Amino acid sequence: MRIVTTKTALRAALAPHRGASIGFVPTMGYLHAGHVSLMDAARTECDVVVASIFVNPTQFGPNEDLDAYPRDPEGDAEACRNAGVDVLWMPPVADVYDPDHSTTVHVDGLTNTLCGRSRPGHFDGVTTIVTKLFNLVQPTHAYFGEKDFQQLAVIRRMVRDLDMPLEVVGMPIVREPDGLAMSSRNAYLSPDERRAALVLSRALGAVRRAFEGGERRVATLRTILGDTLAAEPLARTDYAELLDAESLTAPSGPELGDARPTLCALAVFVGRTRLIDNTLLVAGAR
Ligand code: PAF
Repeated sequence: MRIVTTKTALRAALAPHRGASIGFVPTMGYLHAGHVSLMDAARTECDVVVASIFVNPTQFGPNEDLDAYPRDPEGDAEACRNAGVDVLWMPPVADVYDPDHSTTVHVDGLTNTLCGRSRPGHFDGVTTIVTKLFNLVQPTHAYFGEKDFQQLAVIRRMVRDLDMPLEVVGMPIVREPDGLAMSSRNAYLSPDERRAALVLSRALGAVRRAFEGGERRVATLRTILGDTLAAEPLARTDYAELLDAESLTAPSGPELGDARPTLCALAVFVGRTRLIDNTLLVAGAR
């Protein structure tokens, strides 16, 4: 595995591989099994695997956890090596953004809800950095986790709208044995908060069971979500929503239709840590 830190070194490392399939896994580091599943998929499907580790300042709001974001460059390099990554790119901020950087990539519509509403500017930071990373790596395939469902939808839309020549691959959420979705931010949780954080997967499980049992009333499914989340004193709900999984808009009537999948998405503060999780409700699927 080659580790590069500058754009120039990245371009040089990838020059011999142009024409081959390049699988790209962009990350912010502090890697866990969810990231490794993306690298495994890239390793299986592509000739060359590139990973990046860059804690992108422009996707953090002024009161968010940019400075506290967990970092472990040595451990991350080891995880990438074990996952069969060929080129690991770990740039400093100054090599990515010029001091007078003044361009933003903005996806409208899909970013107006869920995390886009709670974290103004967040998705502009994501789409702008992902565009830059794509332009530098020029991957044929790029891998993202479905835990960030809205991010994946926004990136797919950007790639389609701007005719970016690559395939976006979404990979299933990887969970701890007790159900907690893997996230670098889980590292912030105290032991009590770690127990309380199970309320997210518990709430999603309760809604899923009701849906699979035939419940389609939106108000009832919302009540199940709300009641489950409210029962955990260490949790404070940022949002708990049922939305059309493609358009990310509210259901059109009082009952969910079976023709289209519904996204059930949560963002919950456990102590000071904001966690997200989701599940897709698909009629007839188990
Ligand atoms: O999902 C992430 O880790 C980040 O949002 C991404 C896609 C690497 C952009 O900084």
